[in-house]
Amino acid sequence: MESPAPRSGPMLDASSAFLLVVTIFVFFLPLLIYFPPVPPSQRDALLETHAPIGRHGPRHEARDGRSVKGPPTVRSLCIYPIKSCKGIEVRQSKVLPAGLEFDRIYTFAQLKSPFPVGVHTPDDDSTRAHKWEFITQRQFPLLATLQVDLFVPDTIKARGRPSGPPVSDSDAFLLVSFPWQEPGLRGVLRWAGAKITRWSWRAQPEKEMLLPVAFPSDGEIETRGYAREPVAIWKETATALNMARELPPELQLYLGVSNRLAIFRIDPARLRRVYRCAPTMDEAGYQPVTGFQDAYPLHLLNLTSVRDLDAKIDKDEALRVLDPRRFRANIIVDGGETPYEEESWKKIRVVPGPASTRQGSEFHVSCRTVRCKMPNVDPDNGYRHPREPDKSLREFRDVDEGAKRMGCLGMQLTPLFDEPEKLESWIEVGETIEVLERGNHVYIKQ
Ligand SMILES: *[C@@H]1O[C@H](CO)[C@@H](O)[C@H](O)[C@H]1NC(C)=O
Repeated sequence: MESPAPRSGPMLDASSAFLLVVTIFVFFLPLLIYFPPVPPSQRDALLETHAPIGRHGPRHEARDGRSVKGPPTVRSLCIYPIKSCKGIEVRQSKVLPAGLEFDRIYTFAQLKSPFPVGVHTPDDDSTRAHKWEFITQRQFPLLATLQVDLFVPDTIKARGRPSGPPVSDSDAFLLVSFPWQEPGLRGVLRWAGAKITRWSWRAQPEKEMLLPVAFPSDGEIETRGYAREPVAIWKETATALNMARELPPELQLYLGVSNRLAIFRIDPARLRRVYRCAPTMDEAGYQPVTGFQDAYPLHLLNLTSVRDLDAKIDKDEALRVLDPRRFRANIIVDGGETPYEEESWKKIRVVPGPASTRQGSEFHVSCRTVRCKMPNVDPDNGYRHPREPDKSLREFRDVDEGAKRMGCLGMQLTPLFDEPEKLESWIEVGETIEVLERGNHVYIKQ
């Protein structure tokens, strides 16, 4: 009888193979975390000296909170530094003639041509015949998925690093980010890196770009090669600063824009004047203006009115609940007694609580907001619903003599100021609304 052959030496049994794998994993995991296969993000770099203000998306106060009974109250404040992109929810904000501070200071635009231009047309000629036109989620719904963070200098962090360059208040930045995976192995590494560094299976690799909040100085305009150019917004044209050089080329592919793409910064010295339903210069004490807002400086929305419309919409898989963020308001209110009470307001005062040292803010309620199809775009994923809420708005909210067969929801506001020499005030979540004047609204078309 032969004895069983001795086991050969280098072979591993199952348990030691398992141990080996675990050891390798445990050894490499910290390496992957500390030296991830992705370049350091601009967000991480900014966080060394700056802090983001406000918050985003899912935890939106106005979406999750229940509306309360009581006097009309400010429930949420939102700014949209880049038109048509994601907004930022803030606790308080400065009110300036052109609306909430930092609201709609940038817009994307595409170069439109009135006639085809040949390959051999000299560049000069072709750009002269072309015209920049602003773009919105109606044409490019993926704009809704562009995340915008506002970073302001953090004095505490700055104090901790005495050797670093001093940070000043004008050093605020917008960080724009969008999901983007590069082709090939590098893309795969970044994909894995995003999940490891952000500790989430759902994390996606992103592309980032940085924009200054302050309007660039003449020197910067020259060195960075920005240009002052006309850009059409609805039926108006504003002369603004073309800062297309800051755009990563991937953005155009991501959004699906086939024309040339640019980003424009509104020039604070050349804001657009507002007439139509806005108070006149005599009434307001200054000439009402806007930045890249659609038509008026601010937009107010009543949360309960959104819920009322929501109850009337035919729901489906793609639209389960009408998210108030679809309407891109600046001031979201609730409370009040009579249905759609906000539509009877002509002038309001937003009153701070007794503990506040602030003066509050005053607004001329200029007209109703006539809706286009943009609320059909889902603010979370950019999906454009084929019908709703456009259909229900036209059906149930055709309420303005000046805008027949159109749906209206929300009100357009123009700020009023106590001291005409200091055109600024403050507004804060939780403040209550006192109605100073009531009346009827008739929309005036552009
Ligand atoms: C908001 O809308 C609801 C329902 O239409 C209404 O009862 C309430 O008075 C309104 N509140 C304000 C502040 O306009």
